[in-house]
Amino acid sequence: MKERLSCIIVGAGHRAMYYATAYPDRMKVVGVADPSALRREQTAKRFGLDPSQCFESAEALAKEPKQADFIINGTMDDQHVPTSLPLLTRGYDMLLEKPFATNEEEMWALVSAARRTGRKVVICHVLRHTPFYAEIRRRIADGLIGEVINVQTTEHVSYHHMAVGFIRGKWNRSDYCQSTMLMAKSCHDLDLIAWMKSGIYPTNVTSFGSNFQFSPENAPPEAGTRCLIDCPIEKNCLYSAQKHYIDHPERWSFYVWDSLEHTDKPTLEDKIESLKTSPYGQCVWKTDMNVVDHQSVLVEFEDGCTATLNMIGGTSKPSRSIHLIGTHGEIQGCLEDNRFTIRQIDPRPGHEFTDEIVDLNITGDMTGAHGGHGGGDKRLVQDFLDYISGKQPSLSTTDIQDSVAGHLIGFCADQSLIENRIIAVKMQDRMRIIE
Ligand SMILES: NC(=O)c1ccc[n+]([C@@H]2O[C@H](COP(=O)([O-])OP(=O)(O)OC[C@H]3O[C@@H](n4cnc5c(N)ncnc54)[C@H](O)[C@@H]3O)[C@@H](O)[C@H]2O)c1
Repeated sequence: MKERLSCIIVGAGHRAMYYATAYPDRMKVVGVADPSALRREQTAKRFGLDPSQCFESAEALAKEPKQADFIINGTMDDQHVPTSLPLLTRGYDMLLEKPFATNEEEMWALVSAARRTGRKVVICHVLRHTPFYAEIRRRIADGLIGEVINVQTTEHVSYHHMAVGFIRGKWNRSDYCQSTMLMAKSCHDLDLIAWMKSGIYPTNVTSFGSNFQFSPENAPPEAGTRCLIDCPIEKNCLYSAQKHYIDHPERWSFYVWDSLEHTDKPTLEDKIESLKTSPYGQCVWKTDMNVVDHQSVLVEFEDGCTATLNMIGGTSKPSRSIHLIGTHGEIQGCLEDNRFTIRQIDPRPGHEFTDEIVDLNITGDMTGAHGGHGGGDKRLVQDFLDYISGKQPSLSTTDIQDSVAGHLIGFCADQSLIENRIIAVKMQDRMRIIE
């Protein structure tokens, strides 16, 4: 086996940079493709690349002979498919960000291309790689709770995450970024539902949701339009840009101070000036957002199993939970606790059920020890490197075909929201054509 695998970063944003630097002993960055001259320059400096290793786009890179083992594709949602197709044809394996497509047709185009070219494409479903979800999945695969009858998941998107991503941020308009909030934020949770039912197709999906809070009609009567310019109630506002971004300077800094990335060390004055004009200084009730702030999804699978996701934005605490109910018992837990409970039916006299707590903090799989997303970010890269080196893939690592069901549930849920009806999931026929 080669000592270090070589990779090229396509889309040198903060996600790709994280993956690219996760295992310097196992991988070496040998190129970058990004239309931003500043990001190409910063990446070249960081990894010691010469101009011949820097490309103005994925398409330009794909025109050249293959020059690395794999690609880290960290472009934005609507660029995932157009940038990936030529690179797969050129023969690269790929670690690709989610959502890997923004509609059903382009999703199938990418899955077909991966199949046709025989390349390995792994989607950055980082939660699958957390100790929390990986350990739960292992127990489901071992049949510990029997056949899964129902899966209940929740994602609570905190008030500060909601504001920075979906009210003021890059994902606040689905007609601009091409992703709905459900796909941009909770395609992970839909993937987890589908992954827990791996091999069993979803058949029907329905969904409800809306923007409950963040519209001009709901603005406090005295609210201005920009927190640092014309708002008399800024001091008492839960969504004050001063409180979110100046008083918490590190929180979401890679989004908020994006426009200052040409400055080595932006000063406080630079930041205050930036908030006077950037999207991040807008009143949260008066932006041009067109995405929901909460959405519920109900899914039926071909074996009769049902599943739900409740995504709620604007919560006090960020959290994700899962509760799987099987024919022999149940598994229930919250990602942030890094602990879950397994209960099994126990009909013996004097008993009702057994109760086992699996505490991953105690076993040493500490959430923070392995990086962001509950430890999933770093383990994703490790699992991907093992996979493309020819090692037995972990239970969390599957090829792109196994990421289809979760995305399809999301596309159908969004269609259901618009058309106000149950949507039949047409997965089996398309999979058959591809296979
Ligand atoms: N897995 C996760 O949990 C997770 C978390 C956050 C974001 N994401 C996803 O990661 C992706 C990247 O997000 P980000 O905030 O790092 O993005 P970003 O905007 O910081 O970076 C994207 C980069 O792609 C470049 N680009 C655009 N067109 C290109 C082309 N044709 N060829 C090459 N480069 C091109 C842009 O210039 C930019 O530098 C998004 O799809 C987002 O949804 C995933």
